Amino acid sequence: MNAAGVDYSMKPYSGARGLWLGWLVIGLALGLGWVTQAATPTQAEREQLMELRREIARHDELYFRKAAPVITDAEYDRLKMRLRELAVKVDEGAGEAGVERVGDDRTGSLATYRHGEPMLSLAKAYSDEEVMAFAARVSAKLGADAAGEVRFRVEPKYDGLAVSLTYERGRLVRAVTRGDGVEGDDVTLNVKRLVHGWVEQLGAGGAESAALERIEVRGEIFMSLAEYARLSAARAAAGEEVPGHPRNVAAGALRAQVGEQNAAGEVRRLELVCYGWGAWVPATVRSKTLGEFRASLVRWGLPVPGVDRVVAGSAALGAAVVEVRKYGAAQGVPVDGVVIKVERVAEQEILGLGSGAPRWAVARKFTPERVATRLRGITWQVGRMGVLTPVAELEPVELAGTTVARASLHNAEELARRDLRPGDWVWVEKAGEIIPVIAGVDTAKRTGEVAPYAVPERCPACETVLVRREGGAALVCENRDCAAQVVRRLVHFAGPEALAISGLGPAAVEAAVGRGWLRSPADFYRAETAKWAELPGVGRRKAEKLRVAIEASRETARKDGARLLYGLGWPGLGRAAAKWLAAASGGLTELEGSDVDWWRRNTGLGEAASRELMAYLRRGDVAAELAELRAVGVGEAWVRAE
Ligand code: IVH
Repeated sequence: MNAAGVDYSMKPYSGARGLWLGWLVIGLALGLGWVTQAATPTQAEREQLMELRREIARHDELYFRKAAPVITDAEYDRLKMRLRELAVKVDEGAGEAGVERVGDDRTGSLATYRHGEPMLSLAKAYSDEEVMAFAARVSAKLGADAAGEVRFRVEPKYDGLAVSLTYERGRLVRAVTRGDGVEGDDVTLNVKRLVHGWVEQLGAGGAESAALERIEVRGEIFMSLAEYARLSAARAAAGEEVPGHPRNVAAGALRAQVGEQNAAGEVRRLELVCYGWGAWVPATVRSKTLGEFRASLVRWGLPVPGVDRVVAGSAALGAAVVEVRKYGAAQGVPVDGVVIKVERVAEQEILGLGSGAPRWAVARKFTPERVATRLRGITWQVGRMGVLTPVAELEPVELAGTTVARASLHNAEELARRDLRPGDWVWVEKAGEIIPVIAGVDTAKRTGEVAPYAVPERCPACETVLVRREGGAALVCENRDCAAQVVRRLVHFAGPEALAISGLGPAAVEAAVGRGWLRSPADFYRAETAKWAELPGVGRRKAEKLRVAIEASRETARKDGARLLYGLGWPGLGRAAAKWLAAASGGLTELEGSDVDWWRRNTGLGEAASRELMAYLRRGDVAAELAELRAVGVGEAWVRAE
């Protein structure tokens, strides 16, 4: 009985058939160690099962296609656990409910490529008992005695994006995402551009490469927690949405079209780890054990898991899982469990494949720690482009080693969807081990005094009536003179990736904007030392240094037009596009006179983005600001890069 063959609208089972099925289900479930009890399912449970399937399908779509999940991984796992319970209870056996999501991550906008061998998923285990049941199944099937003949390999389960690297005669020809497991997106260019650790030519000699006509090396591309922290900080400073998980940013960056990646901070580096294979041509040269393959990867110069354990028999498995589990948090790598695999390929072949996943491996997932606390209130941050981001202000609470008092809520739509209300008790978790997120609301604890929250109608900084953009997801203040936006823009202009004016912090910028004499970049060059010295926390000496730094930034702008262009913070213009633009033109005046085709050719941006950018530059206030900047001697001309 499997999911595909069942009519879910059937009446509850009764009579002999129902009894027989019931026993079969209970026997199967007990045999697999998944449940200890199975009662007759109710109609309500059947309906719940259907509802759960629909809900999971929706989350799979958000996770894979959009790389923008709206629930935490732990929340998703809980849905899956519930699905498994219900599926066993209703009539289907655990079957696919126990298998990890095999979604479809194809974007539809990249070229696709068919894998030589399908890219499978892994079955999941949520408890030590389930791991033991897996080991017992494997041992029973292989006929190994209890003393433990079977060798198991234990590795971290990296939380990123599965990738398949095809090497032909030792040369990298293609990098493809998992896609639907059969065919995936070609991401070769982005892998070469962003990923650290891939090699163009497999090392260790021509003879080996010549014998290996083709191999698909399988692995994971992920973002280190350090890179994620850097990027999150840059986005928060620009008032842009802070990504909820390193994997989503990695997935977005890897599948972005050239020139599309323009968010603040941008992804600079992704990591690779290799742990498996697809096709080998000729098949005769294929590794006989995973350890042998690991040695080949090392010889070829490809990165392998940072830790692994190989144990004989199931008894030692528990300790190995405990040790490998520590790796992710200790090394700052996003890991969401451990993978346990049968070491010998001949044994893997005996065990074979289940539905969508091999029977010789299992992923042990750990549910992250969560704590309950109170939502004190919701505040709003206004970004450089006027987008408002809600922030949850929490009753401070200890979680996994730090005190958590705030959590980003991403956007207005998410806030409404989750119906969070000030005064609510909420569950807090850490995504990717560092970023606090609200995983859910404990509605049972909601009292009558907790009223629904209404999203603000006016900008908290300038009182302008807000508008909705991006299908309602984003709440935007369109007043470009809004003090909050002005501060963000100017901080960005002076920031380390733009004109790098040292000694100029956000507090000084905010104070100067508040006093009314700092409104646009040109004002930096017009303000005298005395003006800076008047600001709280600046003083004479610091003000003098600041003047020197501001003067020096003229030279930065002249030598490196890309920094100036990036610093001006035009919509959609990230560091990469700013570089192209600076190389293709000699200064601001020249830029302002160009047409759409020129923009498209020279920025790598698409037509719509180019038009938006041009329209922005032709706004009266923007054009006036640029004219002022040129008038103070910045941006008229820069050194054209070779
Ligand atoms: S082995 C047949 N080893 O987890 C699949 N997978 O949930 C063999 N993953 O598709 C995969 N770390 O994307 C394996 N050390 C590891 C892994 C790992 C992460 C991913 C991989 C896989 C997914 C399944």
